[in-house]
Amino acid sequence: MKMILGIGAGYVGGPTMAMIAKKCPEYKVVVVDINQDRIKAWQSENLPIYEPGLKELVQATLNRNLFFSTDIQENIAKADIIFVSVNTPTKTFGTGAGKAADLQYWEKTAREIVRFSSSDKIIVEKSTVPVRTASAMEHILNANDKGIVFDVLSNPEFLAEGTAIQDLEKPDRVLIGGQETERGKKAISSLVELYTHWVPKEKILTTNVWSSELSKLAANAFLAQRISSINSLTAFCELTGANVHEVSKAIGMDSRLGSRFLCPSVGFGGSCFKKDILNLVYLCQHYGLKEVAGYWEQVVLMNEYQRKRFVQKMLNAMFNTVASKKIAIFGFAFKANTGDTRESSAIYICRELTEEHARVVITDPKALENARIDLKDIEEKLLFEPDPYKAADGAHAIAILTEWDCYRSLDYKKIYQSMEKPAFIFDGRNILDHQELFEIGFNVYPLGKTSLIH
Ligand code: NAD
Ligand code: UGA
Repeated sequence: MKMILGIGAGYVGGPTMAMIAKKCPEYKVVVVDINQDRIKAWQSENLPIYEPGLKELVQATLNRNLFFSTDIQENIAKADIIFVSVNTPTKTFGTGAGKAADLQYWEKTAREIVRFSSSDKIIVEKSTVPVRTASAMEHILNANDKGIVFDVLSNPEFLAEGTAIQDLEKPDRVLIGGQETERGKKAISSLVELYTHWVPKEKILTTNVWSSELSKLAANAFLAQRISSINSLTAFCELTGANVHEVSKAIGMDSRLGSRFLCPSVGFGGSCFKKDILNLVYLCQHYGLKEVAGYWEQVVLMNEYQRKRFVQKMLNAMFNTVASKKIAIFGFAFKANTGDTRESSAIYICRELTEEHARVVITDPKALENARIDLKDIEEKLLFEPDPYKAADGAHAIAILTEWDCYRSLDYKKIYQSMEKPAFIFDGRNILDHQELFEIGFNVYPLGKTSLIH
């Protein structure tokens, strides 16, 4: 039985390898990680990440042809193909700090692969990495004195959290970048063959390595750019009386633009958009493309502006002070259907409100544990409450920061009655019926629409 190894059992590695195990039953798939707790959790009922459909997928394959392990050495030695999905965060030190990707985990992994291998292998770069990383890795890998040859392929992952399983099962495309040599082409064909187990051939795109690496950064930059574009218009709409939803519908009906990814928000979060754009900015600066770097950096700056603007709007509306006022934060995850809070706008907003001496109470159906970790340093100034009704009880204001479905159908009459008056609601996702809330008695502040104030 051929063996596929996944190194890194995180949000990408876990679900991706589970999908490969399901679709390719003739392969043994092993996932390893240096984090023992994570590996234990993957083997248990309580998976380390929340993702709709993931539990069922893992249950169907676990200990059949999917295995989780901390034994990196033995599994590297046995593997035919290795997918690397380790983290590539923004560098926090030295050259490029704050922008460039920190490749230390990737490089450590590459060196372990060399150390523990005794046969040729295909190494698949799943992590998002700067352009030309694959060739740097190929250098490190092939500088071995054992005569082993490694072929490095770029195969970026495009899944989004919350919809990871359907994205993996029915991807818009699978991108595989490889060397244009005979060996490179052979390696590409092996990976194409693996994906054709479930992905139609016409959706599998093969390119050179650099195009593949750049396409991943560019795709995230384009997606984030759309959000910053619509968010920039929310400020404009609020001042002029235009309605951002009418505007986004009118824009999106142009088939050249398309309607998706035009939802206004309190700012995009997630572990990747900001990191990948800053990585692109850093690369542009490195190649002397100052104007190009500035263009993309603006997408991140606009996101920061949107977060600041939201807090400022709360302050202005609440008579320029929130000191000692209870504020209920509905939703802390960076988007619905995930417990992930990395780079969530909620982190920034809760910190700012606490700076203003507000009494912040956070509620979220899946992300409270991560919220506690993110705000550990100011924990004593916050409350964490799983029940939204209790969170809102006695509050001066509610701020909706994540578009969880459960917040759409709450009994807002009951909530209004339990709140201090005047009661404010700031809908940072525009998921509620604003007119109805206004009629209940709330002062309602949507995004990119006229506020409804008593
Ligand atoms: P993550 O932090 O959830 O997982 C990475 C895992 O790698 C961690 O569990 C860590 O312990 C492990 N690891 C680090 N060094 C290791 C080593 N030497 N040996 C074994 N394990 C090691 O990260 P993630 O969200 O899964 O992202 C991984 C990569 O995929 C990143 O480059 C990211 O940009 C990219 N990506 C993420 C998403 C997403 O939705 N999260 C989507 C597409 C691409
Ligand atoms: C994003 C991309 O969508 C994936 O294709 C990519 O693989 C992934 O990044 C990655 O490289 O990590 P993800 O961050 O999981 O996926 O989730 P998105 O659905 O893209 O949402 C990102 C953020 O943008 C969230 O905070 C979301 O609420 C926000 N958003 C999204 C908006 O504010 N408006 C929108 O219209 C869409």
